Amino acid sequence: FHLDIDATETDKGAYPFYMLKEIDEQPVVIRQLISRYLPKDGQPQIGEGIVKDMLAADRIYIVAAGTSYHAGLVGARLFERWAGIPTEVHVSSEFAYEQPLLSEKPFFIFLSQSGETADSREVLQNINAQGFKSLTLTNVEKSTLWREATYALPLLAGPEIAVASTKAYVAQVTLQAILAYALADREALNLDLEQELSKIAIAIQGIIDDKEQLQEVAEEMLVPAHHAFYIGRGVDSAVVLEAALKLKEISYVQTEGFAAGELKHGTLALIEEDTPVIAVMTQPRLAGLVRGNLAETQARGAKTYTIVTQAIAKPEDDFVLPDINELLTPLVSVVPAQLLAYYTSLGRGLDVDHPRNLAKSVTVQ
Ligand code: AGP
Repeated sequence: FHLDIDATETDKGAYPFYMLKEIDEQPVVIRQLISRYLPKDGQPQIGEGIVKDMLAADRIYIVAAGTSYHAGLVGARLFERWAGIPTEVHVSSEFAYEQPLLSEKPFFIFLSQSGETADSREVLQNINAQGFKSLTLTNVEKSTLWREATYALPLLAGPEIAVASTKAYVAQVTLQAILAYALADREALNLDLEQELSKIAIAIQGIIDDKEQLQEVAEEMLVPAHHAFYIGRGVDSAVVLEAALKLKEISYVQTEGFAAGELKHGTLALIEEDTPVIAVMTQPRLAGLVRGNLAETQARGAKTYTIVTQAIAKPEDDFVLPDINELLTPLVSVVPAQLLAYYTSLGRGLDVDHPRNLAKSVTVQ
């Protein structure tokens, strides 16, 4: 399959850092996934073996680490809500040593940009030894997780060089959406996924074209911060985990992402004058509750910033995203978070692509 992104290109060209180049490539990645997996008037082309085996499963187990785990948290909602298959997500380093009670007919999905994460490889070996079927979604064809799973599908994101994963996350969420769509009763779902993903690619381009405003926010609010908080509910509670990981791993600002409703159960004690709290709100039925949580932090002096979708935006909101299918909003709400992390790291004069202590692929347990 020919990649628009030059798969061999490992030169950042005019970009100061690979991470910014890889953020900019996200619209192209989505379009590549559309043309590879939704080629004919939006009908999914996944491979009948995968579809058959996934429809035969009574539960899907998604196993991954780090950013890929965060992508799995979004995927689980897609498989449950669109395909009606109960799904759970596990961190690979935990699953490897504490395997939960499995359902009668489990199916395993491994998400991995590198396809070499040791924690995930350990799990796949255990799964193979038990005779269960699996599918790996990875950016590296012929990698270990690609070769040892029953099935494998490429993320088609092109080489991801920066340690902080961005376009691979967007590719993993997109490909899981296409998979869930392939398994769904598309009549009942009444969604044109190709059209929605095309809209999302344009929305991401809009954010990228408007990135300067995020540089100002990062410099004013996050560069001087010691710690920061991201809050959200529903699918946004999965995005805030990814948003927090991006910020902490390349800027070293201690950042926590968590379900907004959890604030009053302890974390509120950490909120003081000027503590940065960023709320992601893309779910109409939950936005009011998150605004209430955000108000609790403002009452204690927090400096707040909101990332919202058009339908729930209020005049006081800070970053407004176009309205997107409710379960696909992570594909757009993650982009401001990626850019806030990028500009905070840049503002602190750090090596954005090579954060201290970290490797691009964690091949040790
Ligand atoms: C993400 O920004 C990190 N670099 C890291 O958490 C990464 O997602 C994790 O190590 C999993 O890697 P994989 O996707 O290659 O398995």
